[in-house]
Amino acid sequence: MPSVFIKTYGCQMNERDSEAVAAQLVAKGYTLAASEATADVILLNTCSVRDAAEQKAYGKMQSLAAEVRRHRPNVVLGFMGCMAQSRGQELIDKLPDVDLVIGTQKFHRAADYLEDIFAGRRSKVCDTDEEKGSEATIREHILAGNAQTKSVTAFVSIMQGCNQHCTFCIVPYTRGSERSRTIADIAAECRDLVSRGVKEVTLLGQIVTSYGKREIGARDGKSAFVQLVEAVHEIEGLERIRFTSPHPKGYGDDLVEAYGRLPKLCESAHIPVQSGSDRMLKSMHRGYTRERFVTIVEKLRRVRPKIGLTTDIIAGFPGETEDDFEQTLSLVREVRFDNAFVFKYSKRKDTPAAAMPEQISQALIEERHAKLLGLVNEIGAAKCQAFVGQCVQILVEGPSRRNLARLEGRTRCNKIVVFEGSDRHRGKLLDLKIERASLFTLYGDPAILQ
Ligand code: SAH
Ligand code: F3S
Repeated sequence: MPSVFIKTYGCQMNERDSEAVAAQLVAKGYTLAASEATADVILLNTCSVRDAAEQKAYGKMQSLAAEVRRHRPNVVLGFMGCMAQSRGQELIDKLPDVDLVIGTQKFHRAADYLEDIFAGRRSKVCDTDEEKGSEATIREHILAGNAQTKSVTAFVSIMQGCNQHCTFCIVPYTRGSERSRTIADIAAECRDLVSRGVKEVTLLGQIVTSYGKREIGARDGKSAFVQLVEAVHEIEGLERIRFTSPHPKGYGDDLVEAYGRLPKLCESAHIPVQSGSDRMLKSMHRGYTRERFVTIVEKLRRVRPKIGLTTDIIAGFPGETEDDFEQTLSLVREVRFDNAFVFKYSKRKDTPAAAMPEQISQALIEERHAKLLGLVNEIGAAKCQAFVGQCVQILVEGPSRRNLARLEGRTRCNKIVVFEGSDRHRGKLLDLKIERASLFTLYGDPAILQ
């Protein structure tokens, strides 16, 4: 059977989609190639959120066509995901070496389409149609391997799409409108993962706080999302629950209260804020004010004082004045995030912000981005240093990505901890003393390993 290599760009949802496609192909007998150099099928799972991400994948495909295809003409080349969805047939027209384009509602058809191509039934396939029920098709996992390589953590996709239509964002166009899986279906997937050794699940969606709004609805003052978290929390053997990304407007008291009540729900949250200026938040169509955001943070810190908080911020949104930008800096100082992804505003096709008159010059975007990043890093490093000398609980995930001879795990507040342990610690919850800290990584003291 052929071998496949999938290269993933973008967010955790893309990571998860790639994994599900890989699992689907392995079930059909494909092997996973270690690199594109040996693969019979090379798929790029793409991101459209910023122009730079699209350019990267496009450039990669050009170089695959020029290099790999030239030496191995039978290699199948394909695009999947957001860029496949938004560009469709145009990708094949512009890059004739591309054989396959699979949109965001068609990941589950990858094996069928490859079979069509290998059997010679079709030479090119492009499918970006909508498909009812496709949100429930991203369910297979590759956790396999031996005790040393088995995954301890897993992502579970709970919904697809987003209806918020922030004025800068392409996601509602590439991922479609919100569609949620059932609680029973998601809980069954989590139970299966736990039976295969997983200890921590991260529930994924573009706007998880809107999970099941239409399909399930609120009950006893609890949103559908909180009902889902409760159902997953019941699973015996599961140690930790995380989710990403929520939307501030969906961070109701029921969710804040859940942190206090559900011990498996880790005290960490990635809550995208985008800007500290009410004027910008309004123009971005975010649906909350700075004050409301700060109130959510205060409530969360009241329930879980050690909660780790991260966010997304955009620098240089159209119309952003010096004063608006100052307000973002002041919000970062006020909240003191553990970390933040700071993005340079990128004009996206057909989004309302692309047509706004006061676009900011690239030079100013770069300047504000650098300034924000400097502040975020300074605060993040200080917050990391504050862990030195403290005892933390970590879930040991496996060899450290930075140094394969060491192990790494995460604290409940989502900080990476590197330590010298042994393979028998994998999958275990350990209490470690933090010895030192670098910018965003903690180093644990092996002396107190049990
Ligand atoms: N709710 C989704 C958002 C996906 S986009 C999630 O959190 O997964 C991720 C982040 O990219 C957004 O929070 C925003 O900060 C940034 N982003 C989205 N569109 C952008 C654009 N046009 N330019 C710059 N950054 C953007
Ligand atoms: Fe994009 Fe806003 Fe939804 S950032 S994914 S439209 S919440």
